Amino acid sequence: MNTDGGERDWYAKAGVRRDPRRLLRDELRSGRLYFPPALIPYGAHPLVRALPARAQEALAARHLFQYLGFTTHFETQVVNRATQLIATGGCGVDITADARLDAFRIYCDEGYHALYSFDVIRQIADACGVEPVPYVFTPFRAALDAIGAEALPGQPVLAQLLQVVVFETLVTAILSEVPKDERVLGVVRQTVRDHARDEGWHHAFFAGFFRELWAQNSPAQRVRIARCLPRLIRSSLLPDLRPVRAMLSIAGLGAAQVEEVVADCYGRAGDQRGTRVAARHALRLFEETGVLAVEGARGAFHAAGLLTDGKEGVG
Ligand SMILES: [Fe+2]
Ligand SMILES: [Fe+2]
Repeated sequence: MNTDGGERDWYAKAGVRRDPRRLLRDELRSGRLYFPPALIPYGAHPLVRALPARAQEALAARHLFQYLGFTTHFETQVVNRATQLIATGGCGVDITADARLDAFRIYCDEGYHALYSFDVIRQIADACGVEPVPYVFTPFRAALDAIGAEALPGQPVLAQLLQVVVFETLVTAILSEVPKDERVLGVVRQTVRDHARDEGWHHAFFAGFFRELWAQNSPAQRVRIARCLPRLIRSSLLPDLRPVRAMLSIAGLGAAQVEEVVADCYGRAGDQRGTRVAARHALRLFEETGVLAVEGARGAFHAAGLLTDGKEGVG
């Protein structure tokens, strides 16, 4: 397996080795934002805009906490669950010792991403006095695992590996947009920038790992894998609505209003395009490796809204 580990000097360049602890400076009173408004799907909804200014501000803080909380759980419970299998040689794919060493490096990276995501939540919550809504991650992970259990029965390890290949080859708008937005708190922009930098290298590793995994699987198994992948992509990019509902409720909206905001702001047609954009590298990888050439695969990717009619990729 050929990875980029040799080209990239992890000991000098990985965030966990190089970056300082990012600290909240005295910016809270300067009017800096917690999160880019365009990335808070419900931020401009009339029912949200009708809330008192303080409640809207607390909602933006909690949206940031929710993103960071999701990252903390996802890195430790999903990404590193599979990465440790690769690192320790228990993943069922025959890879080189160098590739396993790279997987241990990624394990450290992801642990650090979880650490600083939690660190930033605590720094900001302590300074602004808004407590995060406790994050219950289990339902999200269970939904992700259920897809694998259905598509690849009796093969939980393979399903966990595919979850990570998919997630690590997605590029979300948050990773690319937050660092650029100068209205946002410095500690938030720096943290997301640090994270995005590591993820560029992870992307190369997991793309290489998937090529190896694909090559070592039988034709029958490839059909199952190909049909599972689009659903994993979709579920990885679906927003976790439980914490969204909890945040809106704490902000002062009644149950019916919460449902109205969620219905108006999530699941719109524009989201499908956003999903294709975020998944463009993953889709290219699956095109190159021949996943899309497997019987039934193209139809499954279409059904998941990942391919547009007559045209592949982001359309
Ligand atoms: Fe990460
Ligand atoms: Fe990663």
